[in-house]
Amino acid sequence: MVDITLTKHYSDLDIIKRTFKYISPVKGKFILGFLLIVINVILNILIPFIVGSYMDVLKVENLATQSIIYICLFCGSYLLVIIANVVLTYYEVMVIQKAGQEVVFTLRQAVFEKIESFSHDQLSNIPIGRLVTRVNSDTNALNELYTNVLVNLLKYILMIIGFFAFMIYVNPLITLYMLIFIALIIFVTLMYRHYSQKAFSNERKEVSNLNTFLSENLNGMKIIQIFNQEQRKYQEFENGNRKLVKANKFVMFVFAVYRPTITLLYYLALALVFFLGFKMVVDGRVFFGSLFTFGRLTTYYQFTDSFFGPIQNIAEQFDKLQAGIVSSGRIFNILDMDSTIVDEGKKEIEHFNGKIEFKHVYFAYKDEEWILKDVSFVVKPHQTVAFVGATGAGKTTILSLIVRNYDIQKGQILIDDIDIKDIPLNILRRKIGQMLQDVFMFSGTVKDNIVLRDETITDEEVNRAIKYVNADQFISHLKDGLNTEVSENGSNFSSGQRQLISFARTIIRKPEILILDEATANIDTETERLIQDSLNKMKTIGTMLIVAHRLSTIQHADNIICLMHGEIVEQGNHQELLKKKGYYYKLYLLQYESNQKTVL
Ligand SMILES: Nc1ncnc2c1ncn2[C@@H]1O[C@H](COP(=O)(O)OP(=O)(O)O)[C@@H](O)[C@H]1O
Ligand SMILES: [Mg+2]
Repeated sequence: MVDITLTKHYSDLDIIKRTFKYISPVKGKFILGFLLIVINVILNILIPFIVGSYMDVLKVENLATQSIIYICLFCGSYLLVIIANVVLTYYEVMVIQKAGQEVVFTLRQAVFEKIESFSHDQLSNIPIGRLVTRVNSDTNALNELYTNVLVNLLKYILMIIGFFAFMIYVNPLITLYMLIFIALIIFVTLMYRHYSQKAFSNERKEVSNLNTFLSENLNGMKIIQIFNQEQRKYQEFENGNRKLVKANKFVMFVFAVYRPTITLLYYLALALVFFLGFKMVVDGRVFFGSLFTFGRLTTYYQFTDSFFGPIQNIAEQFDKLQAGIVSSGRIFNILDMDSTIVDEGKKEIEHFNGKIEFKHVYFAYKDEEWILKDVSFVVKPHQTVAFVGATGAGKTTILSLIVRNYDIQKGQILIDDIDIKDIPLNILRRKIGQMLQDVFMFSGTVKDNIVLRDETITDEEVNRAIKYVNADQFISHLKDGLNTEVSENGSNFSSGQRQLISFARTIIRKPEILILDEATANIDTETERLIQDSLNKMKTIGTMLIVAHRLSTIQHADNIICLMHGEIVEQGNHQELLKKKGYYYKLYLLQYESNQKTVL
């Protein structure tokens, strides 16, 4: 079938272009935030100048006469700039955080909406762990990108350029020497980026592997216990866990080498500034018309000091930018996956009469491994038709094709003589009530599981529905009735009870065609009787297709279709098929005999 890959590659430029689409609704906020950053950087450059200028004015000779005024002026202007810096930083963070959060919110919603549109085929092919990572971790990496990384990057780049320009202005000669250190730092940083990217991507891969393993195995933990596989699974987990530790250690190692190297270069650079600087002050050197004084040396020292901060941290920001771009790519991968079920039907349908027709239908889940081969049948409006056959014969598949959980490869499926591909999916699925073999229960109460967040459904309707499907009896015996909490997977209900709840869930939506994949396991005689009675009532709603395991369920069906290996072997009503003495007759005898045995 359709190849489902999550590895479509996007260039960084593509990703950035697309990202702008999401930023544009809040671009006003981003622009304001960036303006604040620019002002802030200018203030940061001002501070060393203020300090340096006052150092020169506050000469020992002048201290007696002018000291108080100058010290007050110095402290006042210094404080003013610092306070402005703090206030601006606050607003800059708030404005950009808010804008970033909005972008990430929109993206998270978009990813979830996309996942909701996936076909059954796609959903069963993408590991759930990976989808969880997409919705959570990847959008978190984006959160970091929009709220911190972009801000810091812009800030650091402006600071580096600004400081460097002023270093040249204050002392071009020392700055020339500083270029050697800048080159060394860039070299070390590039090396670091090279290795750290490798390390990070390795780490992410291991985290994702472990996540996938966990979500699979936590779901299947009971099975693991039943089959005594704990030891083996423990070992598998340990392997994954160890690989993650190894990946983490490599990340730490790369970082541990990088940081001290940069610090060493930093101190060497400062030592050189002082060595050359003192000499130049003593020699009375002049740059751009200004004498290089102790005050200027102080300013220069502060520039160098502030210059190394952003340089040390910018690599980290680039890594986060990289992580953000990788996450964006993965998110766009999801957003670009089209549902394999194309919903292009335009026929507005008010009401189904309920004629269902399969015309030479061929279907395979994969390639050309045909699960259904040339299946043709007609169900007249309001008929009840049953499908019987061994496990794996293709009964569930037939039912799932009618609601287009999958699309067929050859042939045609028609409802009221309209190809189902011409019917909008939402109409098709609203008018056809599906009661599946495995009833999925959501967390919440019994009532939540019936109304499924449809707020238009009243309590009155819920009560009528549970009565109609005979679920009221067991529900009324529950301690909290309809408000009883459903435990995970509905394990506090028997499969018969779950099936009755699914009946209520379905009929409350007023479907016009019903399809039912009967639950087989663990149904006691009493519940079976309730289900049977409920089925008889539901038959009056409209056309009904049933996959039945107990032949007693379907004795009164208008037509019984027998399937074997995806082909129809015979059809007719109960009496006709018994007379034929074919497949159905054998099946009937088998069940009859085993029933006799249980009775005995
Ligand atoms: N999602 C799926 N992907 C691939 N093969 C499937 C899938 N679901 C069912 N099959 C295969 O299709 C065949 C028919 O399955 P199904 O329709 O569930 O049979 P039945 O309901 O009659 O027991 C089986 O061989 C089964 O292995
Ligand atoms: Mg089945």
